[in-house]
Parts: sequence; structure tokens; C-alpha cells
Amino acid sequence: MEQPDGFLHTSLTVQGGVPLKGTVSASGSKNSALPIMAATILLDGETELTNVPYLSDTIMMSRMLNALGIRAEFHSNKRFKIRNSGRIKPIAPYELVTAMRASFFVAGPILARIGMAKIPLPGGCAIGARPINLHLKGFEAMGAEIRLEHGFVFLKANELHGAKINLDFPSVGATENIMMAASLAKGTTIIENAAREPEITDLGQFLVKAGAKISGFGTQTIVIEGVERLNGTHYDVISDRVEVGTLLIAGIVTKGDVTVKNACVDDSEPLIQKLKESGVDISTGPDWIRVKPNGELKSTDIVTLPFPGFPTDMQAQMMTLLSLAKGTSMIQESIFENRFNHAHELKRMGANIKLDHNKAVIIGVNSLSGADVKITDLRAGAALILAGLAAEGHTNVFGLNFLKRGYENLPGKLRELGAQIEEQST
Ligand code: EPZ
Repeated sequence: MEQPDGFLHTSLTVQGGVPLKGTVSASGSKNSALPIMAATILLDGETELTNVPYLSDTIMMSRMLNALGIRAEFHSNKRFKIRNSGRIKPIAPYELVTAMRASFFVAGPILARIGMAKIPLPGGCAIGARPINLHLKGFEAMGAEIRLEHGFVFLKANELHGAKINLDFPSVGATENIMMAASLAKGTTIIENAAREPEITDLGQFLVKAGAKISGFGTQTIVIEGVERLNGTHYDVISDRVEVGTLLIAGIVTKGDVTVKNACVDDSEPLIQKLKESGVDISTGPDWIRVKPNGELKSTDIVTLPFPGFPTDMQAQMMTLLSLAKGTSMIQESIFENRFNHAHELKRMGANIKLDHNKAVIIGVNSLSGADVKITDLRAGAALILAGLAAEGHTNVFGLNFLKRGYENLPGKLRELGAQIEEQST
């Protein structure tokens, strides 16, 4: 399939002041699909994944699998097929790992499959240094020798064995990488202080369906009993809770009436609680969430935390909402050290935000004004588009390549709800 057109450097022109109305469907979760795609390295034979979002990060992961010797390709309507002959190459290409740091998810599976791996050190990104020390701590505990040189991580283990690993921080990626490696290790691995995000549960359920013996995913203690082999299977990826939240906030800030279907309501519970505190009229069904106008938005305070706390991936979008809420709100970003880049651009649109290290104090304003803004990271980009939808006048949003990494056609979905958004190639 040809690549989405977002790979060119394109920009958006967003016309503000149009209340969004209607129903839109959530795509599959990027942050669940990526580790699950990496986990197919562990599985022999054919695997078919459905509800995989077609976006630049999943395309990069597909390229990574092909580079490692696994036949992987997208088919129509978000089906992703993998054929793993078991002949896995140990080296992950530099240009793919640096293009997408989530490529580091292949480290654990390659190490577990063939006993060695050479992976470029993933770089940092706009929101932080993004270290991998906890991933490496887990591999070492399971018996891997680790060497860092020339910008690569060299991993070697004749046989991975079970271990008890206590994570200093409930890292999503470290939990996933260790869980994958431990699936084929000899013996039992216990991960204490594990991450509890819904994407961890989705990966755990996928691995169990392929024959892994794992319990406790979704809690802070995960127990993995290694098995001899894992077999290809079929799996449907969960919906993307960040896309769901982003679409809901688009409805809220435009004073519209928006329903997002194919949503997992439980996964969005931390956000739903905060939206209710902000005075939003929100209702839910088995697989949908609806927001309707309900007078003025109210200020509230947010602290981003590991799940089930408020998700850091919704922090930027909430800052846009709170910029328009009556009163003073405070956001504390506790997960990443530099995740307020969107605040500077929101201020150029008239938002009243004061930053102090990892705290932002937001004093609500009556309206934002359209401006030329640039995207610096994925969720900041979403926040600026939401601000453009709410602002007076029009907003030109530059740097869409970031957006295309993590949203499967966000502009198109907003247009389905009546948004006036034009895309231009720059
Ligand atoms: C995942 O990143 C997500 N990405 C992120 O989503 C998300 O923001 C993050 O989890 C937190 O929920 C994917 O799943 C592909 P972490 P990850 O390891 O695994 C520190 C998006 O917008 N840390 O939980 O990298 C780290 O510095 C992206 O979709 C270590 O210190 O997140 C950070 O401060 C952005 N050592 C904190 O933990 C380590 O070895 C959270 O990182 C690993 C992490």
C-alpha cells in the first residue's frame, strides 16, 4: 500500500469557531500495536493483526520487521500479516531505530529468540531524554551480557533465565520489553512495580493467545513463566484511548456534540473524571463516549501519572481545554521532563499560561485567536489543532509529519465532524 500523504512536509489551515457535531470511530491503538508487532518476532508461523492503525510509526515498525528477516505487510482495512520463518537477523537498522524510538521494543524479542542483538541506542526526543536503563536492567537480571559502544547496545545471552525484577519506575516500554523477553526465558520472571497501562494488558493477552504463560498484566506485579515456543495467532488490537480523548476534546472546545465509538470506556476513565470536573456533559455506552455543550468550562488541576492516573499523552490536549476554562488551573507533568512545548505556541494564540519547571498555571481566557503555529511533538500537535478549532479566525499548523506518526488521519476524522480543515504541502 502506498504511504499516507503525510510523509511530505505538509501544513493544515484550521478554521475556528465551527461547533463539531456527529459520530466518529476510533482507530486501533498505536501504543498497543507497536509492541505487539515487535512481539511477533517471538512467534513461529503466521500471525494476523487487525485494527492496526495505518500511520508512519506502524509503517516504520513493519519496515523494521522486514529488515529483521520477517515477512510483514499491511493489507486492506488495517489487517497486518506476518510470516515468521524463525530466521531472525540480530541487527536492527540504525535509520529505523533513530526514526522511531519505539523500535527498541524489538530488543527483548530478538534477544529471547536468537540470544544476541545489536540495537542502536534510541535517541531522545522533544519531550525528554527517554533513557532505556530499566529495559537493560531487566535483560541483565535475566542473564544477558550488555555492552554499550559506538552508539549501539550489544546484547548477548546463551540462555535467558527467569528473574525477579523491581522497576524503579513503572516504565511502559521496560515492562513490555521485559515481558516479551521473559516469555521464552527458562524459568519464571516476576516484574514488580510494573506499568499497568491498557496497552500492557493488550500485549499480555496477545502473548497468552500465542501460548505464553503470563498472569498479572494490568496490575503492578506480572508473573511470566517461560515456555519453549510461541505460535502465530490472530489478534485484534484495542482502540486508541489517546485518539478517543483527542476527538472528545475537539467536541468540547468547539461547544459541539460529538460521539466517539469503538472506544474502550474503562481505558478513558482517568480522562472522563477530569472532563466531568471541568463541567463537561459526558455520557458513555458499552463502546462509545459522548460530549455535549454544558455552559462554561470550569478550571481544574491535573497531575500526570502512570495508569490509572491521568495520562501524560492527554496533557497537551487538556492544556488547550483549560486555556478556555473559567478560573485558574494547574497542570503538573510528572512523567516527562520537557512536555510543555505546546504551551509556548498556545500563548501565541492568546492563552494565559505560566510555566515553572514541570508545572503550568493556566488562567482561562474567553477566546483564543488564530495564528501560525508549529508542531514540535505528536501530542503538542494535536493540542494546537484543537486550539485552532476553538480559536477566532484561522490557524496555520506547520510540521504535520509529527502528527502523522501517531494519528490515523486526525484531520479527516475532524472533517467528518464538520471541521473546516485544509491540508497543504509546503
Ligand atoms: C510509552 O513510552 C508511550 N509510547 C508514550 O507515548 C507514553 O507517553 C509513555 O509510555 C508513558 O505512558 C509507546 O508506547 C510507543 P516510559 P515509553 O518508559 O515506554 C522514564 C505518545 O505520545 N524511563 O513509561 O518510552 C522515562 O524517562 C508517546 O504516543 C526511565 O527512566 O514511556 C520517562 O520519564 C509519547 N528509564 C518515564 O520513565 C527507562 O528505562 C516514562 O517512560 C524507561 C523509562
